[in-house]
Amino acid sequence: MSLENQPKNIERKKIRIFILVLIILFIITAYLTYKAYQNKHEILTLNTEKSQLKTSLDLLTKEKELTDQENKDLSELLISTKEELEEVLDDLEREENRNEEFEDQIRKLTGTVKDLDKLSKTDEELLQKYSRAYFLNENYIPLRLEKINDRYVLKGKKDQYFHAEAIDFLEDMLDEARRDDIDLKIVSAYRSFDEQQEVKGQHTQVYGTGANAFSADQGYSEHQLGTTVDLTDEATGGTYQSFANTESYKWLTDNAYRFGFILSYPEGNEFYIYEPWHWRFVGVDLARDLHRQKDQFYEWEQRRIDEYLIKIFD
Ligand code: DAL
Ligand code: ZN
Repeated sequence: MSLENQPKNIERKKIRIFILVLIILFIITAYLTYKAYQNKHEILTLNTEKSQLKTSLDLLTKEKELTDQENKDLSELLISTKEELEEVLDDLEREENRNEEFEDQIRKLTGTVKDLDKLSKTDEELLQKYSRAYFLNENYIPLRLEKINDRYVLKGKKDQYFHAEAIDFLEDMLDEARRDDIDLKIVSAYRSFDEQQEVKGQHTQVYGTGANAFSADQGYSEHQLGTTVDLTDEATGGTYQSFANTESYKWLTDNAYRFGFILSYPEGNEFYIYEPWHWRFVGVDLARDLHRQKDQFYEWEQRRIDEYLIKIFD
């Protein structure tokens, strides 16, 4: 290459470099412009999203407020419903209590009616005190009499009868005595008004007025009730004055109350002589209470005795 061409070449190179720089600057500018545009677009998009999110947030906040209100309402409703329910339960309990009271009253009334019915069907004479001082009634005969099995009656005696509702107590007592080797026998049980008159007549013939000490006038004897027996044992027999000293009598004083029997005329009684043979059925409850308290039947007020009438055959 010639020397005169060298400046020209340098000039051309400069121009090329300048153009290249221009192109690069253009490209950078274009790129930056594009990026700026892109950023702006993204900012716009983000702003849109932001406002959408804000709207959603507002909606959610409103919904939450509504839900809170609804929850509050529901909670109040729940509380008031619970209170109403408690009131209803209280009412129910009160009603149940009242029902129980009614049922109780009905039970009591039914019991009273049954008691009254039972009492009206129970012969009130059975617990009256009949002795020298108390008159029964000429026409009185027990409601129902039953013949006593001969095996319980002292040999040689006529047929004996006892109150039908009390006879089982009598026979149970004699059976139990037998199991304890005590051979009790009946000398006399039910005696009608007329029979008592006859017995008293015979005693008077023998003992005169002395008979009044051990023999009741007709109408005054417990035997007319059908619930009284004169007892002895085989060894003692019909003349039972010595009966008080026997094992049989001892057994009776220890056990007769368990079968509802009491000794009507113990030692020192105000009506007759001591009659260890003469036993009267008054019901297990009364006999047991008298025995426990070591009391005598004739010492009790009639009013107090009458309270036992309803359960005399229980
Ligand atoms: N031995 C009694 C008192 C009566 O005759 O009834
Ligand atoms: Zn008697």
